Amino acid sequence: MNKKEQNNVLEKIVSLCKRRGFVFPSSEIYDGFTAVYDFGPYGVELANNIKKEWWKAMTQLRDDVVGLDSAIFMSPKIWQASGHVKGFSDPLTECRKCHSRLRLDSLLEEAGVFADEKMSEEEINEIFEKNKEKIKCPTCGANDFTPAKNFNLLVQSNLGNFTGDWTKEPTYLRGETCQGIYSNYKNVLDSTRVKIPFGIAQIGKAFRNEITARQFIFRTREFEQMEMQYFVKPGDDMKYFEQWRDIRWQFYLSLGIKEENLQWHKHENLVFYAKEAYDIEYKFPFGFKELEGVHARGDYDLSVHAKASGIDLNYLDQANNEKYIPHIVETSAGVGRTFLAVLTESYREEKIADDVRTVLALPVKLAPIKIAVFPLLKNKPELVTKAKEFFDDLKQDWRCEFDDNGNIGKRYRRQDEIGTPYCLTIDFDTLEKGLVTVRDRDTMEQVQIKADEVKKYFQERL
Ligand code: GAP
Repeated sequence: MNKKEQNNVLEKIVSLCKRRGFVFPSSEIYDGFTAVYDFGPYGVELANNIKKEWWKAMTQLRDDVVGLDSAIFMSPKIWQASGHVKGFSDPLTECRKCHSRLRLDSLLEEAGVFADEKMSEEEINEIFEKNKEKIKCPTCGANDFTPAKNFNLLVQSNLGNFTGDWTKEPTYLRGETCQGIYSNYKNVLDSTRVKIPFGIAQIGKAFRNEITARQFIFRTREFEQMEMQYFVKPGDDMKYFEQWRDIRWQFYLSLGIKEENLQWHKHENLVFYAKEAYDIEYKFPFGFKELEGVHARGDYDLSVHAKASGIDLNYLDQANNEKYIPHIVETSAGVGRTFLAVLTESYREEKIADDVRTVLALPVKLAPIKIAVFPLLKNKPELVTKAKEFFDDLKQDWRCEFDDNGNIGKRYRRQDEIGTPYCLTIDFDTLEKGLVTVRDRDTMEQVQIKADEVKKYFQERL
């Protein structure tokens, strides 16, 4: 796909998201709010289904992982100890012509020059000087930029600070959820029966003052992470790291993502404490980009928090009479990016005669609505009453939708765009012969089944 075709696919997905109530730009009635999005009625169902799958895979099906829901606000000491206050930054440059603020590492990368956000100001500016002529402003096309300055991504707040000038001692909205896991590691250890190796999983919001926010919900300033920190004995890191790499890869396949649309990206420029770091990348409409990070972080996180807090975070292995700071293998995924990957993977346009059918071929377990129930005609009370009876019964077990608006063909198409796997139509055959019609989203086939076998039919398929 060339750039134009890529933008075209993304535009179609963005348009479907807005049109069908998956994703809305935040604060739209006030001209929007950059890099923040809201999930609409179907979006929240899809996002919840993704989170449900992750939570099940990472906690319910694992005897060695427990869950956590730590608060968004934490002591600022956590962000100082973790290194975020000093070092959590991206290189910010400004176009001297149109004054767009941009990430220099992204501009270099787009120009085919290797650079990343972990480089020091000096390093990245040196690369920039050597490659100046290759870089163009994506807004105005000029190539006149200021040298990059490291811009800290932590979002600050005045929570609990009643002095006039809270900016001197700000509190932070968390920049990643895992810090809540590290700070509760000892609580979990002391209050449950976990033994090394074990993991703590958490889903929650994170906030970053991202400089450039493009590509829809791929990079936003408020987003949700699904993170798991696995605590292991020093020396066992790489064994578990490889296991988790495989487990996380399989997870995306289980969401219906094709293997050919996934790839591994190995980090070459590791932070000093990391032993190994890989990203799972997905082929988004704008190319292969990070979906999830799987990182072997050594003992860095618990060591810095033990040192800064003065609390002993050693693990005592009573069976072997050993004491050590556990090493950590982290898996860190984004809800928004998984959502966009799943939509990209499911979006289809099918030519039917002179028409084009748009379908979200979502896996059944992720579909926001599992069954749509229709009375054939809106103005026949006996059909509407019967359809409502089916709807009221089926909604006890599955997320269903009742729709009596417009002709049946249009109702099918609307459900296709939402990704609903089955539509159930109540017609005169239901009243006269006890038969209902089930229509399949993917094949568009319609079958008549006995009304008293409807539940069994869906139980076998959903
Ligand atoms: N604890 C490690 C950590 O936070 P990260 O690579 O910065 O690592 C992990 O983030 C995941 O969180 C990413 O792979 C991505 O899915 C998601 N993520 C990070 N920044 C994001 C943003 N600005 N918008 C949406 N998702 C983001």
